[in-house]
Amino acid sequence: MDKLAIIGGRPLYGEIPISGAKNSALKVMAAALLTDEKLTLTNVPRLADVDMLLRLLAQHGAEYNFDNSTLSLHVKDIFSTEAPYDLVRKMRASFNVLGPLLAREGKAKVSLPGGCAIGARPVDLHLKALTAMGAKIELDEGYVIAEAPDGLKGAVISLPFVSVGATEHTMLAAVLAGGETVIENAAREPEITDLADCLNAMGARVKDAGRSTIRIEGVDRLHGAEHRVLPDRIETGAYAMAVGAVGGELTLMGADGGLLGAALAALEEAGLQIEERENSLCIKKTEERCKAVDIVTQPFPGFPTDLQAQFMALMATADGASTIKETIFENRFMHAPELSRMGAKISVDAQTATVRGVERLKGAPVMATDLRASMSLVIAGLAAEGQTMVNRVYHLDRGFERLEEKLQNCGALIERVKD
Ligand code: EPZ
Repeated sequence: MDKLAIIGGRPLYGEIPISGAKNSALKVMAAALLTDEKLTLTNVPRLADVDMLLRLLAQHGAEYNFDNSTLSLHVKDIFSTEAPYDLVRKMRASFNVLGPLLAREGKAKVSLPGGCAIGARPVDLHLKALTAMGAKIELDEGYVIAEAPDGLKGAVISLPFVSVGATEHTMLAAVLAGGETVIENAAREPEITDLADCLNAMGARVKDAGRSTIRIEGVDRLHGAEHRVLPDRIETGAYAMAVGAVGGELTLMGADGGLLGAALAALEEAGLQIEERENSLCIKKTEERCKAVDIVTQPFPGFPTDLQAQFMALMATADGASTIKETIFENRFMHAPELSRMGAKISVDAQTATVRGVERLKGAPVMATDLRASMSLVIAGLAAEGQTMVNRVYHLDRGFERLEEKLQNCGALIERVKD
């Protein structure tokens, strides 16, 4: 398994191109199943998760061409309505093929995604929404077997709590359902709006994405389209936090500060200078140390759970004590003991971590169990004295495009060590 070797302590100066958002790309790719015409997506990041979904879409019948960041997908015919365990278990977003297959073919058999390191992550809300739309669903040997021989019907889906995945999955199914679907208490993440924009470009009628109530008027068919994936707000926030931890000045090309929600305010409160320009975001650290800031993870526009680990790395070197409360996932502090191995002073009590900033972290061999936790260890390694070896780089390859190259170009001493 590859590792990353980092020699810390060098401030970051330069430009980093921000890639298209992984968590949007994976959903708009699933939308290709909804039409027999070609869907062309631009600004698609080349990531392990994207490749994994491509493998799944190909076995459903997709022909594709991925050139630089332009991905064209053409699902003229659906060869198979079954999504096997091996392709779904490795990546939860694969489960989102269920709705489109059901909407287009009237049936689907999709493996349940199972839990993951950050929490149980059930899919009950996804299944309730599809059932409310008329699907008959059975669970058999780890698979969801769903049928809607007469097509899906519009329904009012009231989510008991905000779920990004359930909102997106409902949208992906409702665009081809008969009549109107209303999603109440919908997620408002920018990726939801991006998915709606893509679906609407394909001829769907999705209204008010980005608000708490989304209305979808089903249509008989969707057509081909071209859509540009929005910039990755989590990658943007992570590099901004790296500047906070190690110092310097980065211009994040293609980034959109408006997508960062409460994370932007937290970075400013921590003392970073942030300037929003035409097509970039400039992050500068002028003080010796950042200030401690308390955060609580919340659905958008609150502080994103996907930046919590990286923010903890930043707070580990801040001046003062901060509390970090995780409210979205029940087990998302696995980076805390690893950061502690680097000298961070962190105590965790249930869903709240208290971080007492230290002047300097110390490099150490560390191990991460998920994507964002790995990035927090990279940030800590960049800021630490001496060498940090981050094990299990495959987590990072799932969600941060060309990470070492982007950081090396800005002066970081970071290298992949092949095993
Ligand atoms: C998406 O996951 C993202 N993944 C996650 O990013 C992100 O952390 C999360 O949204 C929250 O922003 C992708 O987009 C591929 P949820 P999702 O449904 O859709 C519970 C990353 O690092 N829940 O909003 O799965 C769930 O367990 C990943 O890129 C149910 O109980 O998140 C969680 O506690 C990690 N039943 C909460 O809701 C359900 O049916 C919110 O999850 C669905 C969710």
